[in-house]
Amino acid sequence: MRTFAIKNEIKLAHLSGNGIRFEIDGESYIDAASGTFNLPLGYNHTEMVDALTDQIKKASHASSTYTKPIVENGFCKLLDEAPENINKIFMRDLTGSSANEAAIKMAMKSSGKTGVLSLMLSHHGQTALTTSISGNAFRRESFPSLNYQESLKVPAPYCHRCFYGKTYPDCGLLCAERINDFIEYSSSNQVACMIIEPVMGNGGNIVPPKEYFQLIRKICDEHDIILISDEVQTGLGRTGHMFASNHFDMKPNIITLAKGLGGIGIPVAAVLMESRLEVFESYEHSFTSGANLLAISAAQTYLDVLEKENILEHVRENGNLLGEELTELMNQYPFISDVRGLGYMWGLEISDREGHEDPKMTQKIVETSLKNGLILRSSRYGFGNVVKVRPPLITSKAEIYEIIEMLKKSLDEVI
Ligand SMILES: Cc1ncc(COP(=O)(O)O)c(C=O)c1O
Repeated sequence: MRTFAIKNEIKLAHLSGNGIRFEIDGESYIDAASGTFNLPLGYNHTEMVDALTDQIKKASHASSTYTKPIVENGFCKLLDEAPENINKIFMRDLTGSSANEAAIKMAMKSSGKTGVLSLMLSHHGQTALTTSISGNAFRRESFPSLNYQESLKVPAPYCHRCFYGKTYPDCGLLCAERINDFIEYSSSNQVACMIIEPVMGNGGNIVPPKEYFQLIRKICDEHDIILISDEVQTGLGRTGHMFASNHFDMKPNIITLAKGLGGIGIPVAAVLMESRLEVFESYEHSFTSGANLLAISAAQTYLDVLEKENILEHVRENGNLLGEELTELMNQYPFISDVRGLGYMWGLEISDREGHEDPKMTQKIVETSLKNGLILRSSRYGFGNVVKVRPPLITSKAEIYEIIEMLKKSLDEVI
C-alpha cells in the first residue's frame, strides 16, 4: 500500500515521471488523470524532451513582437483541421483561463455587446472573469463582489440528471430550446458570446446528445451570438479527434486550447478564431511569457508527434476498449449509475441506493485507488460525484487492462 503523502520535506528531486507513471519518493503510480489532464504524451516523451532541450540551449524566450510570425506561419496544419470558418491563431496566453478571457474579449470587442452565456456545472478557469462565468457556486463563494453582472448561466445537457426532469430523447432537448427564454427574459438582450465545453470536464464528464450543438448553433445565429468552444480539456486528441467540436458538428466561431497543447505539461494556450475576430491591438491582451519559445516548441513538437505516432487513431480504437471495460463495471458495482465518455475521457457517475449523487463514496474511490497506485480525479474539485478516468493518450492496451484491474481492486475495497 502506498502512502502518497505530500509531506513537508518533499523536494523537487523526489518527484519524477516515466511514460504514464508518476513517482514520488520512490513510490510509483499509474497516472490515469494525465497530471492535470495536461500530459497527453505522459511525463517524458523522448521527442518532446529532445526538442525542448535543444530549444532551451538556444533561447527560451523572445518577445511576442518576434514570435508573432512564427506562430502565424507555424500552425497552419492545426488550422487546416479546425472547422472551415476558423483560420486564425492567437497565441499570447499560457493558461486555459486567460485564453478563454481572450476569446470572450474578442467576442465583446467585435460585437460591442457584453453578455456571456455559459452552462451550469461548467468550468472555464479561475481568473476573476472565468470564475464568475463558470457554473459552480463553490468557486465564487469567497469572491461575491467579483461576480460579472452580464453572466447568464443556463442548464447543462446533463441527461443523467436532467434539470427539467425529462428523459432523452422525449425531452425535446429543452436544455437547448429554453435558452431562447433565458435570453428573452433574463438577459440584458446584449449577449456577445456563449462558451461551452463540448464534453463538460470538471462538471462530470457530461457528454451532450449529438443534436444539442445543432440547436445551440441555431440559437446563436438567431441572436447574433459568437459561439466559443472551450476545448482546453477536449482538444488535441483527448476525445480521439483533433477537435471535439468537429466530432459534435458544433461549428463554433472560436476554439480555445491549453492543457494538452504543451504535450508533457509545458504551459501554453491558444485561441483559434475566424479572421473577423482578429480585433486586438497588441496592448489589449498579451502576457510576458505568452508563446515564449519553449511554449511554441512544445506545441509544434506535440502536434508533430500526434501525427507521426498516429495518436488520434490509437485513442479512438483503445478508447472504445476503455469505455467497454468501464461500462462493464456498472454491472458489478451498483453504486456506478452511469458511465460516459469518448476517446480517453471517461467518467463514472457514483450514486447512493436512492439514486442521489454520492460525493463521499466518489472521494473514497479516488483515495482508495491512490493507495493502490492509481491516480484518478473526482469531478467538481472533490465536490462532485463523478470519478474521472483520463489516462495519457500514449496509454497502451496492456496499460488500460492494468488500470481496469487496479480500479476493480479499489472498487472491491470500498463496497
Ligand atoms: C474546460 C476548461 N477550461 C479552462 C480551464 C482553465 O485552464 P487553466 O487551469 O490552464 O487556466 C480548465 C481547467 O481545468 C478547463 O478544464
